[in-house]
Parts: sequence; C-alpha cells; structure tokens
Amino acid sequence: MSQAHPVPAPLSAAPGQALKGRLRAPGDKSISHRSLIFGLLAIGETRIEGLLEGEDVLRTAQACRALGATVLRDAPGRWRVRGAGIGGLTEPEGILDFGNAGTGSRLMMGVAGSHPLTATFDGDASLRKRPMRRILDPLVQMGATVVSEAEGGRVPLTLKGPSETVPITYETPAASAQIKSAVLLAGLNSPGRTTVIEREATRDHTERMLRHFGAEVSVERHGEHGRRIALLGQPTLRAADVVVPSDPSSAAFPLVAALIVPGSEVTIEGVMMNPLRTGLIATLLEMGADIERLNEREEGGETVADLRVRASRLQGVDVPAARAPSMIDEYPILAAAAAFAEGTTRMRGLHELRVKESDRLAAVAAGLSAAGVPNRIEGDDLVVEGLAGRVPGGGTVATHLDHRIAMAFLVLGLAAREGMAVDDGSMIATSFPTFVPLMRELGAAIRD
Ligand code: S3P
Repeated sequence: MSQAHPVPAPLSAAPGQALKGRLRAPGDKSISHRSLIFGLLAIGETRIEGLLEGEDVLRTAQACRALGATVLRDAPGRWRVRGAGIGGLTEPEGILDFGNAGTGSRLMMGVAGSHPLTATFDGDASLRKRPMRRILDPLVQMGATVVSEAEGGRVPLTLKGPSETVPITYETPAASAQIKSAVLLAGLNSPGRTTVIEREATRDHTERMLRHFGAEVSVERHGEHGRRIALLGQPTLRAADVVVPSDPSSAAFPLVAALIVPGSEVTIEGVMMNPLRTGLIATLLEMGADIERLNEREEGGETVADLRVRASRLQGVDVPAARAPSMIDEYPILAAAAAFAEGTTRMRGLHELRVKESDRLAAVAAGLSAAGVPNRIEGDDLVVEGLAGRVPGGGTVATHLDHRIAMAFLVLGLAAREGMAVDDGSMIATSFPTFVPLMRELGAAIRD
C-alpha cells in the first residue's frame, strides 16, 4: 500500500521588500533520477555529486536498492551507487512505492520491465491518477506482461519482464522524454537495435547519460523538430562520475519572483542551460525580462550559467506550441509572470499539462482566478490577461499534490496586493526542499 500523503502544510506569501542576493537551486531532478538508474545498470561504483535530495529522487534511490544496487550517501548531495549491471537485477521483495514521482516510476518501468522479474509499482493519490499505458504499450511490444493494473492503466500495477526483451522501433505518441527514456532503458537489455522516434525533440538527458556510461547511441534529426535515437542493446555500462547541474525548472521560481517583485536583483548560480530546457528563459526575454547569462561554463557535460535577474516590466506574448517540450514544467510559473505583464499572453498546445502531477491546466487557471487574474482555457491554450503589475491576490490556491502549483502561486503572492495562500506546500519537498528557506534569504515573506 502506498504511503499516506503527509499532513497538509498551508503556506502563504505576502508582498514586501525587494528580493536581493544570490542563490543556487538544487540539482536537476531529471538528471538526479537518471544518475541513480544508470548507477544501478552499470558495473562498478558510480559517484554522484550534487544529487537532488528531494523526495521523488529518494524514492528512486530506494527502488535501485530494491533491484539490487548498493546506494550510499556520503555527504549532502554526494552519493555512490554500486551497480547490479544490465541483466543482473534482482526481483524486488516489496512494492516499489514512487510517491509523487512520475519520472522515477516511468523510467524504472522500462528498467524492470525488460528484466525477467516481477515488480509492483505504486504511488500517492496524484501518481495513481496519471496515465501509464503510454509506458506499458511499448514495453508490452518488447515482451513484458502487465500482470495487473488499476483501471485505465494506472498504478498500482504489476509488470513482469520477459526472459528475452525484443528490440523495437517506436514512435512516441506524445512529446515525452519519459516515454522515450523508458523505451531506451528497456532497449539496454534487449539484443540488437532499439530505436525511438520523436516528432518533437524532448530533453535529452537519457541519451547523454547513455553515452557517458559507454553505450553506443546515434541521434539524427527527424522531420522539422524531431529526432531519431538508436541504441545498440546489451552493452556493458561502466560506472562513471556524474556532476548534477542546477535545475532550471527549480531556478524558474526565484527567477520569476525577482522579475515581478519591484526593485529586485537576484543572481541564480550554475543553472543548466541545456537548450531543450530553456524555453522559459526564451519566453521571458521576449516579454522584456532583464536576465543576463553570466560566466557560462561546462559542468558535468552540460553548459551552465549564472543568471542575473532584475525586476522588469513585462509584455504579454504568444508562446508557440512548438516551444512546449522545452518548458513543459514551467507553464505554472510563466502564468504567474503573465499575470503581471501588460497585455495578453497566450500559451499554446498545453494538452500534456493535463497529465502532470495534477491537471495543471485546470489548476493554473483556477489559481489565477483565485488571484483575481482574468484568464480562460481555449482548447489546449491558456490565455492570461495581464494586469500590468496590479494583481489583487488574496485567494487560496488548491495545489492538488502538485509542487509546481504551490511554488508558482507563492511566487505570485510575493507581488500581489493581498498576497496569496496555498492549501498545501508539503509537496514542494519532492523537487525543491530548500525553496522556502532560500526564498526567505532573498527577503521573501513566506509564512507557514
Ligand atoms: C521529465 C520529463 C517531463 C517532465 C518531467 C521530467 C523527465 O515529463 O514534465 O518533470 O525527466 O524525463 P514528460 O516526459 O511526461 O513530458
């Protein structure tokens, strides 16, 4: 049985002084999950520096242990994984409980579902609502059996891997790095070539890490925006060192806070600038944001930069659907920025937001309404009528177990006339456990 959700922790944010100072957002969540999973699949000892110690990632660490890895924490952010190796996983004894974590559970379905073992996946009330058929369908094509599943292909579900996994060529039905990654990870334990075709390029951390651990991967363009990724199965992955860069999806919250709280100037250090993750920065620059990219350098195979952000007058913009994959987790915080802009912001093609930790499209629209910001959903688009810095606020937002909804509306509350409250901030610990103290250090009035 999945662990119960912790006691709800209401939080509120009030307008106050300008935000000033420097901070470093925690390690990237996508890379943190993957570094543990690749550690499990490698032979030898993988050393990880800067791991995000959020609840989602800790669940993945636990699952790696259950599948046969030794996972040790030496110091904050510094971890070691002694792998079981591809083909060497053990059958887990209990249920693999992924809590709130879509990424951890889906990637691990690819890993476990390609090994001759039976594993049961579960999670919290949010994860139990999220679609898993998008992962199970390709895994079944590769030979896995879905022994049982909750209605509609959801967790709790039990997956049995085949004695020999079949390599496939698979075109992902949605622009999703999680689907792509689950298939590639399953392809690691199948003889021959597994190919994933995506019509829109999504974050490429799995491909980069495959190479970093010694697998043979080729990446070609596919159509105008897509990619074709081919992996040669059953390589020996060799343990590697991983330095986890700072998460742009977490940095997004202090970044937008600095833009909308008058007089602010904040520097966010070492933010990963992978072009498949920087759609929010591109959009904010189009809106007139004062964001300087300083001190660009390489860290752990990724370009990182310090971002100096100053409070700015923003203009509404039209955000094309093609940009969605590179800013998929940033729409809640972009909506907060759009509320303070002058004029209309239209965000196009947001259908995937309906299947995140919550129905984010509905949750963002309801949150904006609670803050007194005119908005509407038109098909898959969200339209926000910006109030040019004069957002009433004063409402309470239902967060639906969604960390990014909680953080986005706390940030909005820092610049809204009456502030803003969220019904539950406990889920912030899944991705950005230090959010509240770091924001307070900048001068933000966030109260429990
Ligand atoms: C992630 C992919 C995205 C993103 C999620 C992390 C990943 O999900 O929303 O937070 O690490 O692969 P989808 O692949 O479902 O779009």
